[in-house]
Amino acid sequence: MAKKTGEKLELLKEKFSKEAVDKRVRDNMPFTHYWHNRFHVEAPFGLISDPNGLAFCNGEHHIFCQWNPLTTDHKNKSWMHTKTPDFIHYSMQELSLWPTDIHDKDGCHSGCGFVEDGKLRVFYTCNSRDEDYIRTVAQRFGTLKEDGHVEKEEIVIHGNPEGYSAHFRDPNFFYRNGERYFAMAAQRLNKPGESSRPTNGTVLIYKEENGKNCKLLGEVKTEYKDFGYMWECPNILQFDDYDVLIMCPQGLEPEEFQYQSHCQAGYLVGHFSIDSLEMLHGKFQELDHGFDFYSPQVFRHEGRHILVGWIGMPDLVNEIESAKEGWLYSLTMPRVLTLRQGRIYSAPVEELKALRKEETEIELDTNKIDFMKETLPKTSEVILDIKTGEAKKFEIALNYGEEKTVITYDKNTQVMIIDRNGMKLGGKGQRKFKLYVNEELSFRMFVDRTAIEIFLQHGEDVATFFVYPEKDVAPELTIKSDKEMAEIHGTIWELDSIKFS
Ligand code: FRU
Repeated sequence: MAKKTGEKLELLKEKFSKEAVDKRVRDNMPFTHYWHNRFHVEAPFGLISDPNGLAFCNGEHHIFCQWNPLTTDHKNKSWMHTKTPDFIHYSMQELSLWPTDIHDKDGCHSGCGFVEDGKLRVFYTCNSRDEDYIRTVAQRFGTLKEDGHVEKEEIVIHGNPEGYSAHFRDPNFFYRNGERYFAMAAQRLNKPGESSRPTNGTVLIYKEENGKNCKLLGEVKTEYKDFGYMWECPNILQFDDYDVLIMCPQGLEPEEFQYQSHCQAGYLVGHFSIDSLEMLHGKFQELDHGFDFYSPQVFRHEGRHILVGWIGMPDLVNEIESAKEGWLYSLTMPRVLTLRQGRIYSAPVEELKALRKEETEIELDTNKIDFMKETLPKTSEVILDIKTGEAKKFEIALNYGEEKTVITYDKNTQVMIIDRNGMKLGGKGQRKFKLYVNEELSFRMFVDRTAIEIFLQHGEDVATFFVYPEKDVAPELTIKSDKEMAEIHGTIWELDSIKFS
């Protein structure tokens, strides 16, 4: 057994060469394939997923994410790194953290980043399997070095605590009274008869001691004791007097207007006591209603809470057409979160306005026209403010030649539906959710080559998803309604690419 592990470790040295991976990135940038997104961060090859280690350090925002630089499946999990002063100019994507030893030989899984003594430090989950495929996890710190690699330190949390499974990962820090704590994704093992399922998702809290040890304090106590079998990627945030727990429950049954994706990403708003670990909170709300949004991470800089999410969904690799071309997935645009009346609102960071190029105004006197057609640039931002007037039913569609993705809204039922069934390739189906519109429907859509992000009602709701148009055509935007709308005011911008150098 020892020999086998030894062989595996030897093999890792051959598989992961930072120099070779970084060179391959440089050789494959900038993106040329028409499916590669131009203003979303992605990798030129391999599979990316969860944002990791987000932090502002020495004048730049650092963005890491999970990356399999070797194949197009969820294996060989490493960390990709890029940094940017302005969310427009990024450093070339590089390999930063990868499996090297007995602890993380089967994956450097997700973790967080924070700044200490001017250095960017990370805390991440090491994943290891034995010959029987039994998982052992461990957590350790590391420091980002000048040459772009993360230097690993000793393990500080060995294994998983009693009463919880080895699905114990994704440490994310927060501060209380000047002390650092970590929220960890965990899976409680239920005794027979205790719950409807063998395990339940939860979040464990650790306190850091002397920068070397982490002590388990216990579980965050919420009303959601039986809410999915696992909660991944927790974030504990503070917005003035309110605390927010973001987590990603797995195993919820889909309902008519919620939990429609394979896994969810959402939040609880309320008050969290670090003494009792009790969270008094409202109901779980989803952060995004699209097909492809998961494992968001939030960092704080100059008063802004900035979220970066993964445009993707666990297990649904087959829906991602670009896998055939050698790469998969994207990160969302960085989004600023604000908390208003118990709800999180999201908006792309203001810096992204610098991507705007040519502008087209749309001003429609809808007394005459209830139908609009406009060819969009292949990368664009569209703002539509629709004064609903007499109209009750609306259809906004992105037409790619014969193919289309259709968004409908019914004011009578307050239901929005996003329908990808008109696309030939990639994931299909519908997403249905409640959206409250009174006089005005506010619609802000970012259309990249395959990634689409829609901010509704000034960011109260968001929908993120991929489309894979078969042909390299510019999408045509059409708007229809059942009766006359009072007014449409809109603006379309062609968007520039973000730059990697
Ligand atoms: C979420 C997740 C994390 C884990 C990582 C591994 O997508 O499953 O819980 O750390 O992906 O890539």
